[in-house]
Amino acid sequence: MAQLFTQTASNAFRVLIVLSLLASAGAVLLGYVWARSDAVWNVGKPAPQPVPFRHDLHTGSLGIDCRYCHTNVERAADAGMPSAQTCMSCHSQVWTGASILEPVRSSLVLGQPISWASVHRLPDFAYFNHAAHVTRGVACETCHGRVDQMTRTVKTQTMSMGWCLECHRDPAPHLRPREEVFTMGYEPHRESLPDDVRAFYSEARQRLTSCNTCHR
Ligand code: HEC
Ligand code: HEC
Ligand code: HEC
Ligand code: HEC
Ligand code: HEC
Repeated sequence: MAQLFTQTASNAFRVLIVLSLLASAGAVLLGYVWARSDAVWNVGKPAPQPVPFRHDLHTGSLGIDCRYCHTNVERAADAGMPSAQTCMSCHSQVWTGASILEPVRSSLVLGQPISWASVHRLPDFAYFNHAAHVTRGVACETCHGRVDQMTRTVKTQTMSMGWCLECHRDPAPHLRPREEVFTMGYEPHRESLPDDVRAFYSEARQRLTSCNTCHR
């Protein structure tokens, strides 16, 4: 058969093909890593707060229940944020004159809520509901991590759609007994989940992954 290209030309061509294949594989990989990278989702980045509130101290050391400050978490879509009154129930007695608590005192005087910066806000087109999760055995720790050890509150999960769906496709292994949802550092007891709960969630999968569950 007659040669169409010279030997060097076809060698160069082969090299070119291999290089472009490598480049496109690299681009796909990079895109994948980028989409998955926690930095894109601000994971681990604290937000500037008006008062340097510490969960490690208040929930970890002092052992205050999450519901003392996030009062709606079992009843409503939003967990709710503490008012100045809630802080002052203690801080009218401890650290009374502390300048770092000035925003709390002035909020009380002005009757305006403290403007905490949020670290978890979802875009408006995505719907989330705390009560729906907490009352079904999805724990704070599962979505927010070891809050009781945080000096500055940060995201530990991306809160991306892919992350939501990972659980919604098969929630059963992530569930805890109802009384353990506030527990931090929970170790599952390796007891198998009741069959009816398993059966319920293999049914619920369809509903939990349909677009209008979260985009309504
Ligand atoms: C149940 C009581 C209680 C409540 C409610 C409470 N605190 Fe405290 N807080 C304390 C105690 C006790 C300390 C001091 C601990 C110490 O000195 O070791 C403290 C310390 C602090 C400190 C100083 C932390 C540091 O850097 O050492 C800040 C800031 C603070 N609290 C902010 C708040 C804010 C903001 C709220 C409301 C969202 C609040 N606290 C609600 C009991 C409470
Ligand atoms: C004494 C009051 C208090 C208690 C108790 C408390 N928190 Fe908070 N929480 C706050 C304050 C104040 C903020 C806002 C400042 C910050 O983000 O650090 C906050 C913020 C948060 C956020 C971030 C909210 C956002 O804007 O995205 C999460 C998540 C959270 N708390 C979870 C918990 C969990 C879980 C518990 C129980 C283990 C708990 N909190 C107990 C006062 C409290
Ligand atoms: C299934 C995951 C999930 C669980 C379980 C969960 N959260 Fe959240 N949390 C979120 C998401 C997502 C947001 C952002 C909500 C938004 O922007 O609409 C959020 C926001 C918050 C906020 C700030 C805004 C608000 O809603 O007022 C607080 C405080 C909070 N969570 C506390 C808690 C506490 C306390 C628990 C446990 C009782 C808990 N969360 C359980 C996913 C979860
Ligand atoms: C660790 C598991 C888990 C994660 C993560 C999770 N969910 Fe859920 N979600 C559940 C379970 C379990 C239910 C309750 C299903 C039931 O029994 O109706 C639920 C229910 C819901 C419901 C209510 C459905 C209804 O019909 O009432 C909405 C809305 C929802 N999830 C949105 C979200 C969003 C948005 C995210 C991500 C930001 C998220 N979920 C992350 C487990 C999870
Ligand atoms: C379990 C909840 C859940 C379900 C089910 C769900 N989504 Fe989402 N979706 C989210 C959340 C949360 C976000 C926002 C993530 C972010 O950008 O912060 C989102 C974002 C999006 C976006 C914007 C993407 C972007 O990059 O900004 C589109 C488009 C979308 N969803 C389409 C869909 C479609 C189509 C379906 C059905 C096949 C669906 N979603 C099902 C939770 C859900």
